Amino acid sequence: MDLNQSTYLLVTGASRGIGQEMAHQLAGQVKEAGSVLVLLGRSEPQLEQTKAVILADRPKLTVHTYSLELATSKSEDFARILDETLSGIDSNEFERAIVVHNAGTLGDTSKHAHELGDIEILEQYYHVNLFSALALNREFMRVFANQRKLVVNLSTLAALEPFSSMAYYCTVKAAREMYFRVLALEESSEKTLVINYAPGVIDTQMTLQVQSESHDPALAAAFREQRESKSMLTPQQTVLKFIQVLQAQKFNSGDHVDYRD
Ligand SMILES: NC(=O)c1ccc[n+]([C@@H]2O[C@H](COP(=O)([O-])OP(=O)(O)OC[C@H]3O[C@@H](n4cnc5c(N)ncnc54)[C@H](OP(=O)(O)O)[C@@H]3O)[C@@H](O)[C@H]2O)c1
Repeated sequence: MDLNQSTYLLVTGASRGIGQEMAHQLAGQVKEAGSVLVLLGRSEPQLEQTKAVILADRPKLTVHTYSLELATSKSEDFARILDETLSGIDSNEFERAIVVHNAGTLGDTSKHAHELGDIEILEQYYHVNLFSALALNREFMRVFANQRKLVVNLSTLAALEPFSSMAYYCTVKAAREMYFRVLALEESSEKTLVINYAPGVIDTQMTLQVQSESHDPALAAAFREQRESKSMLTPQQTVLKFIQVLQAQKFNSGDHVDYRD
């Protein structure tokens, strides 16, 4: 895949961790003139930091930031953001549009599966991690109906296998991955290429949370050991691999591709 094209790139959770690095490294690959980057997250200062790092390397890119709480987001919010960032631009001018559904949360890992059941908490968790991604994806597919699109879902081994203390996370990631697999099945891969990328275990706030909060001492200890022995991957390492996966493009649309593959 030739990433050096005029691109509309939208990344959720671009304020830190893997999403910040996705935005940075993909920004380094796309054609500088005519490309537009849209960075979503809650923390405006951290989004501004991501933007500054990107513009320091690629000053001709157009970069927008939006602070958006996904727990209450609606499809209208995503429609507005797409509309505003495409103002005065013909969306047909982009050679490719990319959306990276990266934002995600772990849920309460101090709880056992049998303790889940508070509908309000479940609704909020599923809103952040599933409903918002579907709502954004619908608007993205509508606006870029005529363009070649790349749809990226940040998946995980936990979408395929159960992990103790991760009932919230495993269920939502399985549902989210299955949505993107159905999308891939229904859309022509020439027009819409979908990838479910599992980044490995990465040194971010998410894995720190497992380490400090999981009710499963073995899982917490495994994460602690990986972090202390520095065998845990960095966001830079996994995103570099992701870019290589895209460039080689050996996957079929909808595939689950793991860092370790
Ligand atoms: N770390 C790992 O080992 C690992 C492994 C497999 C898969 N993944 C997946 O990779 C993705 C990124 O993970 P990460 O480790 O980089 O996590 P992270 O460091 O915790 O970052 C999460 C990102 O999501 C945003 N976010 C969280 N809650 C939000 C909300 N309610 N509204 C809007 N934005 C919200 C955060 O931005 P704000 O705080 O600014 O809102 C942040 O940018 C996730 O989908 C995760 O499931 C991670």
